[in-house]
Amino acid sequence: MIQENPTTRPLTAITHAKVQIGMTETSRQLVAEELSRLLSDQYMLYTKLRNYHWNVLGMQFKALHDLFEEQYTLVATYVDNTAERIRMLGFFSPGSMEAFLGLGRLSETNHQHGDAIKMLNNLLTDQETLIRFLRTAVGLASDQGDEGTADFLTGLMEAYEKMAWMTRAHLG
Ligand SMILES: [Fe+2]
Repeated sequence: MIQENPTTRPLTAITHAKVQIGMTETSRQLVAEELSRLLSDQYMLYTKLRNYHWNVLGMQFKALHDLFEEQYTLVATYVDNTAERIRMLGFFSPGSMEAFLGLGRLSETNHQHGDAIKMLNNLLTDQETLIRFLRTAVGLASDQGDEGTADFLTGLMEAYEKMAWMTRAHLG
């Protein structure tokens, strides 16, 4: 639970205007908390992609430098969409590195000293993990009557399935 984590704050409901979209506050909060975890996971992936974009070495430098840029550009958009979805449900989005580290489930990796294969393997692991989280989250949103978020997360899952395919294809 978010509330039990000392590095994060509980999501705060907006009090100045009620959100009346046919879901209870409890349901909206459950979905917003799941979105917050997914946001944090994606922020970790974003940071890792930038790291690898800067530090990759080898004969495939240009191709991978470009691939990682392409992927972090996509993830930046997905991060934004995920945070804004939290706001649509009536909650504030996490927005600090401390919060992302507290909520996220993907692990940091040390500097890979330019090893392109290790980088690709790490990215594939993260992207496939994220896809599994998203698949579960679609069901969670649907169970709370939040078909809007379920639809959003389904689209996001498909986008990461494409990204994972691109990453996987580089590994042969
Ligand atoms: Fe760059």
